[in-house]
Amino acid sequence: MDNAPIGIFDSGLGGLTVARAIIDKLPDEQILYLGDTERTPYGPRPIAQVRQYTLACLDELASRGVKALVIACNTATAAALSDARERYWIDAGIPVIEVISPAARQAVATTRNRRIGVIATEATVQSEAYLNALAAVPGLTVVQRACPRFAEFVEAGTTTGEELESVARDYLAPLGQAGIDTLILGCTHYPLLTGVIGRVMGDGVSLVTSSEATANVAYNELTDRGLLHGPWRGADGPEHRFLTTGRSTTFPRLARRFLGPEVSRVDEVDLSPGEGRS
Ligand code: DGL
Repeated sequence: MDNAPIGIFDSGLGGLTVARAIIDKLPDEQILYLGDTERTPYGPRPIAQVRQYTLACLDELASRGVKALVIACNTATAAALSDARERYWIDAGIPVIEVISPAARQAVATTRNRRIGVIATEATVQSEAYLNALAAVPGLTVVQRACPRFAEFVEAGTTTGEELESVARDYLAPLGQAGIDTLILGCTHYPLLTGVIGRVMGDGVSLVTSSEATANVAYNELTDRGLLHGPWRGADGPEHRFLTTGRSTTFPRLARRFLGPEVSRVDEVDLSPGEGRS
């Protein structure tokens, strides 16, 4: 039994889709969420910079005593997973959970025609992290497409509308033409756009998100390692905490829309004294 919080990190709001699934599956667990909203999006940044930002954010969560770390960001996973596993899991005994292999496994279990599409940020696409995760599966065709503006729409709170739909048609047309039957939403922001993505791709294409599959991994890791939270006798249950590197006035409004009423306590944290706010 371990009553410390689970640390969940994303470049911004997208990781809330993973947090939602973890809260639903593990309602006794307390979440400590960190969104690097001051420096989002990570997708267009060089991999080395994403790695540096990611490790700084994970350091912050680790220093606050979390019992497990969830990198709820594909771009950060692609850039820093092996460093993070070494630094926190091997050296400090804190399990590190990521979002790419759970989504890849779920896509393999879902596809019938062995043609899988991946949409993600530029950095994730360039890293070929999904191609590597799927490489050992024989007979698969995998088509990748970067969708840089999708995360921007989500960070701005836009999940419907003509402009978004027209951008989505542009991005997704080649995947439709490639005859995929399964599409991995390889960015944790994209589950907030399943309305438009599903509408453009049509009913014949199954959308796979990392949220549910990653929450299953978190459930199994905490259970297997004896790290589950004890029962909340006589108490209401956990109060989740949220940290943002941006403004704590704008984060709660969107975070509440995307995650729900669990977003009450939001604090600002400054991780970039040289380049962020003073
Ligand atoms: N949510 C992040 C991911 O899963 C990326 C968004 C960004 O570009 O910052 O890749």
